[in-house]
Amino acid sequence: MLVTIAIDGPVSAGKSTLSDAVARRLNILHLDTGAMYRAVGLAALQNGIDPHDQEAVERIFLDNKAQVGIEYENERQRTLLNGQDVSQLIRTEEVGLAASAVSRYPTVRRYLVDTQRRLSEKTSILMDGRDIGTVVLPHAPVKIFLTASPEARARRRCLQLKKQGKKACFDEVLRDLVKRDEQDRGRAADPLRQADDAVLLDTSNLDFEQSVRAIMDIVEARYGQK
Ligand code: DC
Repeated sequence: MLVTIAIDGPVSAGKSTLSDAVARRLNILHLDTGAMYRAVGLAALQNGIDPHDQEAVERIFLDNKAQVGIEYENERQRTLLNGQDVSQLIRTEEVGLAASAVSRYPTVRRYLVDTQRRLSEKTSILMDGRDIGTVVLPHAPVKIFLTASPEARARRRCLQLKKQGKKACFDEVLRDLVKRDEQDRGRAADPLRQADDAVLLDTSNLDFEQSVRAIMDIVEARYGQK
């Protein structure tokens, strides 16, 4: 039986790291769908295109200049743009904002959602993103909406940036995060929202291990002890 898990939530709610840890425990693949939107954002920037210019972004697709692929190496996701591994290049704030902008366009969403669904048909998978429980995998047996207060998320993001040796100013990080939240929740196409049948998990007061346990409890309630 295929195991299918959908995890959605706002930026810096810990979706990616938690999803990675849970998928490893379950021995299934993890697809970070945000990485795919980031790859499209990067494609716009690399082509000198303003990510807010819908027509220009859609043209890169028509010109086949934004082919996004996913590969797994030792169960680790590699995100490819036009055949090139961009897994590291997409991890900047600039690309994150570009991703948030291009993710508003239906052409971009249709293309990436198709790819995501195709992957889920073949294998057990845990997908994280903004629209997994509502649009990509509406029939997923496990849906979790992961959240935390904006301040808790900004604190975590600052710690993460500091660990990477980058300068992080709490107020600036909080401002960017609130801006991304507004863009993701306010867009017309597949906005970020909790699916009606998703379990809400607020991790503001949970540490990493407690959060993993809480997700595992929800998964095991549906699929049995793993
Ligand atoms: O999770 P992330 O920060 O890497 O995602 C980058 C952007 O991509 C985010 O601002 C919104 C968009 N996104 C989306 O619209 N749908 C998804 N399933 C995943 C991400």
